[in-house]
Amino acid sequence: MLQNVILFFKSKAAQVLPKGLSLTVRTQKHYKFVTLSMYICKNVQALTAYTPGEQPKLQGVIKLNTNENPYPPSPKVAAALRDFDCARLRLYPDPNFAVLRQRIAELHGCAPARVFIGNGSDEILALCTRAFVENDGSVGYFVPSYSLYPVLADIRGVEKRPVLINNDFTWRMTENYQASVFFMTNPNAPTSMIFDKGKVSAFCGAFNGVVLIDEAYVDFADSDCMDLALRVGNSNTLVMRTLSKSFSLAGLRFGYVVGPEELINALYKIKDSYNMDMLAQVVGMAALEDIPYMRGNVRRIQATRGRLAVALVQRGWRVCASQTNFIFARPPDGDAARVFAALKDSKIYVRYFPGEMTGEYLRITVGTDEQTEALLAQPVMNQG
Ligand SMILES: Cc1ncc(COP(=O)(O)O)c(C=O)c1O
Repeated sequence: MLQNVILFFKSKAAQVLPKGLSLTVRTQKHYKFVTLSMYICKNVQALTAYTPGEQPKLQGVIKLNTNENPYPPSPKVAAALRDFDCARLRLYPDPNFAVLRQRIAELHGCAPARVFIGNGSDEILALCTRAFVENDGSVGYFVPSYSLYPVLADIRGVEKRPVLINNDFTWRMTENYQASVFFMTNPNAPTSMIFDKGKVSAFCGAFNGVVLIDEAYVDFADSDCMDLALRVGNSNTLVMRTLSKSFSLAGLRFGYVVGPEELINALYKIKDSYNMDMLAQVVGMAALEDIPYMRGNVRRIQATRGRLAVALVQRGWRVCASQTNFIFARPPDGDAARVFAALKDSKIYVRYFPGEMTGEYLRITVGTDEQTEALLAQPVMNQG
């Protein structure tokens, strides 16, 4: 009987109550209203979630909006998938990915104990906010840079300490700056420019917290900072890479970080037991065994990048000096929102970041030569 009354009340309540408000019946006489949001942590309620670039379902789109590689992964990756024995999936994967650690250690000339691998580098960033930031600590990052960093601070409910770089997107650091962890995209995104290595190195040496140099795009650059993570006496600098861009494996989810053993151990302590699934380990290994193939694609993308930059400059665009697989460029009249919308109407997707420093620019992923020609042929790319 009581059960029936409860169901009656609940179904009536569902008809009349606003979304998110529910009625809990405790007895036939006493009942109370609850909002469903009261079950959700306050910082999660208040959170503005990270917005990944659009993955359009439309056919025939030229997709230059999420810095994916236009070329397929290595044939060794395809072979590894083809030869994979499905029966192996009965078993859990190696929780500490020993073979992969060894391979990455070999690539960078360091001990495997200095390598941690994550389910995409985004997972590594999230783990860093848990391992290196106390509840009263803070997360630092440049503005503009990768817009996930402030969201990770909000998820942890800790203070954000953004540092505005110069208007020309070059290095600027606040004096006596402090934070528990500083995330530095280098080369930077969405600006595409690389920071002066001397400044990065001096900052790491002087900073009183953990610095993570996010080298998601570094294979497209002329220099890198891996040596800072490996130098003798370093106790605070991590360098992170991903297979999502240069290795054409964004769909796989594979990032790794190199640095002092103690910091790396802290990440192992808090990770999910099996954060790298068996397929990711097998396929990631195949990709990391074919560095020449990756380098070949990088050279092709760099060449297309050069041609795209020249074409845009000739049309009066301001083009940042790119060290990445994308270009950050301002149309002649600065009306990037208009160009973005017109391109989208023509099924060419690029990325637009509204805001004071970035609102006059578009971030355009370097695609194939054919995609680049199609982009440049758009009337909106010739006006302004
Ligand atoms: C600067 C930066 N860091 C990290 C990532 C995330 O990489 P992953 O695919 O390895 O999670 C991205 C992705 O676009 C990025 O731009």
